[in-house]
Amino acid sequence: MADLKEEKLPTHVAIIMDGNGRWAKQHGLRRVKGHEKGADSVREVVKVTRELGIPWLTLYAFSEENWKRPEYEINTLMKLLEQFLKKELHEMCDKGIRLRCIGRIYKLPASTRRMLDKAIQQTSNNRDMTLTLALSYGGRQEILDTVKRVVRLVETGKCRSEEIDENLFCQNLYLPDLPDPDLLIRTSGEYRISNFLLWQSAYTEFYFTPTLWPDFGREEYLAAIAEFQKRERRFGAAFD
Ligand code: IPE
Ligand code: IPE
Ligand code: MG
Repeated sequence: MADLKEEKLPTHVAIIMDGNGRWAKQHGLRRVKGHEKGADSVREVVKVTRELGIPWLTLYAFSEENWKRPEYEINTLMKLLEQFLKKELHEMCDKGIRLRCIGRIYKLPASTRRMLDKAIQQTSNNRDMTLTLALSYGGRQEILDTVKRVVRLVETGKCRSEEIDENLFCQNLYLPDLPDPDLLIRTSGEYRISNFLLWQSAYTEFYFTPTLWPDFGREEYLAAIAEFQKRERRFGAAFD
């Protein structure tokens, strides 16, 4: 932690938490055991993010395409999410962490939605860090949902089609105030974005690691941030 430059910390870190199933397989366990272990990595990463003073953390917990998985696995993931919310609510309030989510939340089971609503509501005034969970989330779906909102604005005369620009589009994303991620980490050695934050990641720095999510912890997280601090971000401009 001492090696990190405070002035160059990312404002928003986003993580594709992948590799739980392979971790379980490696240990001769069922896939769901990997998800259980993965929840510990979530706790650790949230803790380190808060300690560093990084204000925004977004975790890809369940994609829109993950509905294709077996019912038993989906149910376990939802139960684990509920357990996480129940266990961590106190800690989130204590540490000033605001919880929010992005995605087609209405597709989640009612019990999960209830717990989410409660945690979101009870942490809504916390300001030290925002933890956003992407649940039943897809970047393409978010773009489509945004297009529909913008079309409605035009249809109802609230704006003219000539006025549609990046700014108006951003104002109609799931969470308009969510900044673009500076650093996106993907574990498990896959080099793809899997429909995560497609609009928002236009100029994001990527960090890929072969480490499986349940094995991802403080050391590697700090290493990812240290690597980020070495990058030169140009945003299309030219520097001499
Ligand atoms: C990530 O781990 C968790 C979710 C996608 C919910 P996986 O379950 O995708 O693990 P692998 O990729 O099969 O190893
Ligand atoms: C991405 O992982 C989604 C989450 C981590 C929640 P997947 O395991 O679903 O992605 P693919 O199928 O390998 O692209
Ligand atoms: Mg996977």
